[in-house]
Amino acid sequence: MTQAAPRKTILRALAGETLPVPPVWMMRQAGRYLPEYRATRAQAGDFLTLCYTPELAAEVTLQPIRRYRFDASILFADILLVPQALGADLWFVTGEGPRLSTITDGAGVAALKPVEAIHETLSPVYETVRILARELPGEVTLIGFAGAPWTVATYMIAGRGTPDQGPAHAMKAAEPAAFDALMERITEATIEYLMAQVAAGAEVVKIFDSWAGSLQGDDFTRYALEPARRIVGALKARHPGLPVIVFPRQAGDHYVGFARATGADCVALDNSVDADWAARHVQVDGCVQGNLAPHHLVEGGPALVSETKRIVRAFSGGPHIFNLGHGITPEADPENVHRMLEAIRG
Ligand code: CP3
Repeated sequence: MTQAAPRKTILRALAGETLPVPPVWMMRQAGRYLPEYRATRAQAGDFLTLCYTPELAAEVTLQPIRRYRFDASILFADILLVPQALGADLWFVTGEGPRLSTITDGAGVAALKPVEAIHETLSPVYETVRILARELPGEVTLIGFAGAPWTVATYMIAGRGTPDQGPAHAMKAAEPAAFDALMERITEATIEYLMAQVAAGAEVVKIFDSWAGSLQGDDFTRYALEPARRIVGALKARHPGLPVIVFPRQAGDHYVGFARATGADCVALDNSVDADWAARHVQVDGCVQGNLAPHHLVEGGPALVSETKRIVRAFSGGPHIFNLGHGITPEADPENVHRMLEAIRG
């Protein structure tokens, strides 16, 4: 026999292996639907303190692993820690979401800290990764992550989540040089941040482009595909075997060829694309992850089981990591996650 395949199921799927039962994890698996998460978050006092206290961040990362034996664990942190590390003010309004100081012009970009300065703020995150690398069960893969430059830029420009990313599109049109400089700074910081997560023990990294769907035509190539290609290229130049998952959420037809064009090992599918279509047009290039609609974990019932099985069946001919199309919501019933796992694992 030649060299044995990597043993962990997630790494095998990411290497292109078709497994009889797909490995599984969930976006936002450490989150408010779990009573143990709510208790640890209360102990921390607020969300950002939770993110920056390594022992507590590691604890909430491990909670869903203990409860469900997922095949992967995702570092507990947030994509908005990078803007904060670059000098933006960041706070979370309970029940509403994140707020940041805004950037609207070249002076705002020039006032950001240099990329090398990010580690000052982000070093507790690396400590969380080191704790997890020690404490996770041997068969569980540790995933690190960052936001993609476009998605992070939308929050830095608007100072909050926006339904249509209007302020970011407006700055891109009115101040193209400043906008490009901001994208450049975030891209460099993201490479630096993910390199440090890998050095601390992350085995896989995922790039979340939650707002990629609002980029069309050349803008998609320039601001979603190209930054992802650069980040993947830089990471793999340093760590040739490092698997990378990309999530250009709501990219629609742009999902086709995205892995090939960026050099990523896996594309995460949201729940707007049909699984049979994605098997034919996206999975042909390698591993896919997704795409159960999160609302099924609120409702449960026969639709949860039939949809889960339909997705497993659709992707059974190639490498697949079962996941949701977006994060599990606070209203989800933790028992429904057991029902989903039963439908996948039997
Ligand atoms: O379990 C995991 O998935 C890992 C941790 C993780 C969080 N956020 C924790 C979190 C990850 C990977 C993220 C990514 C993230 N953060 C994204 C990209 C993925 C996506 O959801 O589209 C985005 C856009 C953010 C920014 C962000 N963080 C928003 C918009 C919000 C508020 C909305 C919400 O769901 O509350 C957050 C807060 C946040 N990040 C929570 C968690 C568990 C809830 C905070 C709380 O406890 O109140």
